[in-house]
Amino acid sequence: MAETKAVIPGSFDPITYGHLDIIERVAHRFDEIHICVLKNRNKSGTFTVEERIALIEESVANIPNVQVHQFNGLLVDFCDKIGAKTIIRGLRAVSDFEYELRLTSMNKKLNSDVETLYMMTSTNYSFISSSVVKEVAQYKADISEFVPPPVEKALKEKFGN
Ligand code: PNS
Repeated sequence: MAETKAVIPGSFDPITYGHLDIIERVAHRFDEIHICVLKNRNKSGTFTVEERIALIEESVANIPNVQVHQFNGLLVDFCDKIGAKTIIRGLRAVSDFEYELRLTSMNKKLNSDVETLYMMTSTNYSFISSSVVKEVAQYKADISEFVPPPVEKALKEKFGN
């Protein structure tokens, strides 16, 4: 049976044009896209979950079949909760591979029904990550090429620029 729901998980702290590239490219291949903000225990947050969700919602407002959620638990449990069997992740470079392999293998062990599909991030965005954008934003660099306008504004406010 063809899948109709896809989950795009992440910490989205904050959403970047790299994330949006994947979201936009996936959105017309599934009926429903569920973006889920989850906890990554290896990252301390810059934005609150509520702020991240608000920024995602503003950034995807033009894509009709996208819903944004937060979940305080395992990603596979979120998939179960909404009846989704497909997770989509973006892959930027070889350096992402080991981390993604660990994530996907663990998720597969936890729930073998859920499949993770990878998409290569467009080359224009392959060097962008939330962390690098935050790093340069602190030094007042122009970040308009890397993040949507609401995120640019929020980062400027966050870092007092
Ligand atoms: O954007 P990120 O930080 O690379 O996303 C990682 C994330 C949040 C998807 C991952 O840490 C996650 O799934 N967290 C929820 C807890 C979980 O299910 N862990 C099992 C996989 S190791």
